Amino acid sequence: MMGLVNAALAGKPRHQDGAIYGPRGCGKTALLHTIKDRIPHTARITLLTPSDLKTEDDVEAHILKSLDAGALSRLLPDETEVNVRVLKGVWKRQGIEFSDKRDEIAAHSRKHPFFLLLDEAHKLPLDVYEKLVHESLALRAADACVTFILAGKPQLTSMGARAGVSFSERFLHKDIGLLGEESACEALVVPFGREGVSISDEALQLLYEDTHGYAYYLQLWGEGLWECCRRLETKHIDRDVVASVQPMVRKERDRAYQERYSAWTGEDLHLFECINQRLRETDGLPSKRGLEHMIETELKTQGRASSGFSDIYQKMVESDYVWQRIGDRTLTFCLPSFSDFIERNRSDFAG
Ligand SMILES: Nc1ncnc2c1ncn2[C@@H]1O[C@H](COP(=O)(O)OP(=O)(O)OP(=O)(O)O)[C@@H](O)[C@H]1O
Ligand SMILES: [Mg+2]
Repeated sequence: MMGLVNAALAGKPRHQDGAIYGPRGCGKTALLHTIKDRIPHTARITLLTPSDLKTEDDVEAHILKSLDAGALSRLLPDETEVNVRVLKGVWKRQGIEFSDKRDEIAAHSRKHPFFLLLDEAHKLPLDVYEKLVHESLALRAADACVTFILAGKPQLTSMGARAGVSFSERFLHKDIGLLGEESACEALVVPFGREGVSISDEALQLLYEDTHGYAYYLQLWGEGLWECCRRLETKHIDRDVVASVQPMVRKERDRAYQERYSAWTGEDLHLFECINQRLRETDGLPSKRGLEHMIETELKTQGRASSGFSDIYQKMVESDYVWQRIGDRTLTFCLPSFSDFIERNRSDFAG
């Protein structure tokens, strides 16, 4: 992503925008803020969420907001100090379109590269998503120095197909999932180390096994351990400190899973539980088509219309149960412990 940013800063933007995608709580927002902090202030940066982009007009307005007052007024037929709202009002009265001024906006961006960072991009209305992609292409065609970076859940990768614009060719995409063991340990060792607190190898191992490298749980553990160290006035985290924080983490984690799980009711819930059980018995997860086929068969067993398999698959993705990386043939569990939770809470479970 910084490669994209640096190319634009050097006046030679790449032909793609960026997209970061991955399940809930894996660090997409944190990464987007890190990117924002690393872009020098000479550039124009805006960090948005879909609530800032409700219509196609909002896309134009946010690009225009990257211009300073002087540049904005130069886009007017007569020179006046303006803001975006006034400018668009004057344009409307005089029949001027955003596209008529794109070359001038592009010229301005060559002096001040413009970065539009958009979080939660999977929630964008499709027409707005299409407008964003179109505007990026059109501005680049006018030699503009602009780069858009989107972050969102895995559904982001299918928005292109749904909006009729290609995704994997248009975006330099980076999936973000669970941290590896080394990174997960670093995420704890480094900040604690800075405060003079050490962590035993045994405790680290327990923490990695418990979090699976899930950023949100690491954050949760970090806060709990920090509080505990302060309370016990200790500068060392060992298995006893871990054990005393464990109940708080477990409670919070069950709450998070319960929330995802409660989206499932009735026949769908039963189907979800059956599929989960089946997936736990097999070695490794199937492909998207394989899972859809399993859902199709299960729907038939339930005496339901099997055409609903795609919606159920989509719901599994939206519940942060499974996800698929571009280029991967098989699916991945967003979090293995969510599958354990479903198994423990199965409605027909004798316990
Ligand atoms: N690399 C990291 N190391 C440690 N903690 C991290 C890392 N990235 C993110 N976090 C922490 O994990 C939590 C989740 O991160 P973040 O909100 O960025 O995830 P997200 O993918 O945007 O989630 P959502 O899908 O809910 O929007 C936050 O508390 C954040 O501070
Ligand atoms: Mg986020």
